[in-house]
Amino acid sequence: MKKVLVATEKPFAAEAVSAIREIIEKAGYQLELLENYTEPSQLIEAAKDADAMIIRSDKATREVIEAAPKLKIIVRAGAGYDNIDLAAATEKGIVAMNTPGQNSNAVAELAFGLMEMAARGYYSGKGGTELRGKTIGIHAYGNVGKYVASIAKGYGMEVYAYDPFVKKEDIEKDGVTALDSVEELYSKCKYVSLHIPANDKTKKSIGWNLLSKMPKNAVLINTARKEVIDEQGLTETLEKRPDFTYLSDVAPDSASDLKTKYEARCFFTPKKMGAQTAEANINAGIAAAKQIVNFFEKGDKTFQVNK
Ligand code: 3PG
Repeated sequence: MKKVLVATEKPFAAEAVSAIREIIEKAGYQLELLENYTEPSQLIEAAKDADAMIIRSDKATREVIEAAPKLKIIVRAGAGYDNIDLAAATEKGIVAMNTPGQNSNAVAELAFGLMEMAARGYYSGKGGTELRGKTIGIHAYGNVGKYVASIAKGYGMEVYAYDPFVKKEDIEKDGVTALDSVEELYSKCKYVSLHIPANDKTKKSIGWNLLSKMPKNAVLINTARKEVIDEQGLTETLEKRPDFTYLSDVAPDSASDLKTKYEARCFFTPKKMGAQTAEANINAGIAAAKQIVNFFEKGDKTFQVNK
């Protein structure tokens, strides 16, 4: 009997686990659950006899992959797969997949929750500002970026986007102004919402160079990855620009320093919570379970990311 390991250091909502279990057991496979684990060694141990694995931001390192001789497929229930050692997976003939789009609305809603909170002075009772009529720049127009655009339009914001991998006409048919350069996006927009993946090209790519260009009372919202921020450049921006605010889902490495020095202009969630909704967990969990069944039963490799 095939064993499907669901390894989530940050567990799925209970309804998502039930839905995953139903799909896996209906296919005649066995589900093993490893939740709230604290040590990588626990993941390595649990992966030893797994044929398939569903993970979230859990780290599928070379060590995990090499400890799992039966493993054929890893599905990241979510968008970003920077937590999978793709080279190690490919070497072992393991298919790695993500479930694009399934948790995107949850992330987009959190971006607005963060923006609204900061605009209203962190709900301290003091006066604030509105989002209507303000400029927002969407940095990367993928699944999350599209939801951000649709919510921003509901708020009555002026919406811009930059994405070198999406045709301008595809952005503009959503009523969003597509810009030609990243510099233009940062120069134009008071709010910039980051939706780029973390990879060799994007890591540390957002720093003083771009942030210094933003208009007065600029706000950067990062619900993507902490790794895309050049923390030195971010610190420099907070230091030199008393009008700049940084809101992030997941704290940067220098969080305690930044909080001490710039408390009123920084907010970090204690744990990555963009996709931490029942709906996102159910959507991504069900998609992951179905992808595994379709892979074993039909050889379906749609959503493979290590081709
Ligand atoms: C993603 O890449 O899908 C999001 O960052 C969500 O990550 P999570 O599943 O760890 O919450």
